[in-house]
Amino acid sequence: MQIKDKVAVVTGAASGMGNEVMRTLVANGAKAAIFDVNQTAGEACAAELGDNVIYCQVDVTSEESVSAGIEKTMAAFGAIHICINCAGIATGSKTVGREGAFPLDLWKKTIDINLTGTFNVLRLCAEQMAKNTPVDEDGSRGVIINTASVAAYEGQMGQAAYSASKGGIVGLTLPVARDLASFGIRVNTVAPGLIHTPMFEQLPPPVVESLSKTPLFPQRLGKASDIAHMMKSIIENDYINGECIRMDAGLRMQPK
Ligand SMILES: NC(=O)c1ccc[n+]([C@@H]2O[C@H](COP(=O)([O-])OP(=O)(O)OC[C@H]3O[C@@H](n4cnc5c(N)ncnc54)[C@H](O)[C@@H]3O)[C@@H](O)[C@H]2O)c1
Repeated sequence: MQIKDKVAVVTGAASGMGNEVMRTLVANGAKAAIFDVNQTAGEACAAELGDNVIYCQVDVTSEESVSAGIEKTMAAFGAIHICINCAGIATGSKTVGREGAFPLDLWKKTIDINLTGTFNVLRLCAEQMAKNTPVDEDGSRGVIINTASVAAYEGQMGQAAYSASKGGIVGLTLPVARDLASFGIRVNTVAPGLIHTPMFEQLPPPVVESLSKTPLFPQRLGKASDIAHMMKSIIENDYINGECIRMDAGLRMQPK
């Protein structure tokens, strides 16, 4: 799908990877709606980028909130062709640690935002995309890209909830692609390795330093622009569908 003149919903676009992919799409001629709970950063970004970007204060876990964001996007831009799910949180706790068993509330919150939030946004965007007039001779109506993590495959100690949430995103990719094929909507997932974003900066500097030596090649932390480049390619290449793509420079996470 050509990016120029298309409309993208990008969750988590007030920060990190979502922000970078949203900027890349706008730089390539798209219009974009930032769906994020962070109102201050979201509004500042929309004001900076001008008329082709709107901010919608959306909590991805809420049906009402996502529906209101979609209505606002439709009123501003008239269609939705691209849905990028980047909103997420990183959580950690051992299954049994010094303070006892893994807090169930933390488990539920992680699954709710990362997994249920992704599905909630993609299902409501897909419902809207299905109404599009096809944009090419294949009959394409939309492209959905989710963000998992290499933790879906090699979760470290303390990552039971995070890994389960990201493994769920990997698991839903093919069945959702199958469900939406008859509408001309492609569905893919990117599984990033260690990407230098504000989420990553929660870690102490010595941990960051040591992690940055773990990818095979190139031996550095990934940049948000590495992920944005991949997502742009997925949108533009009509033959990628139902796939999960690792973006990790050959990294394989160790137990801790
Ligand atoms: N940074 C990494 O190394 C890394 C690696 C693998 C996967 N990921 C995944 O990539 C995605 C983006 O991560 P990032 O590093 O850019 O993080 P980030 O913290 O910079 O950005 C996440 C954004 O999601 C938003 N958000 C959180 N909860 C939300 C909710 N309920 N509704 C709407 N918005 C919400 C935040 O406000 C924030 O703007 C996440 O899903 C993360 O799990 C990150």
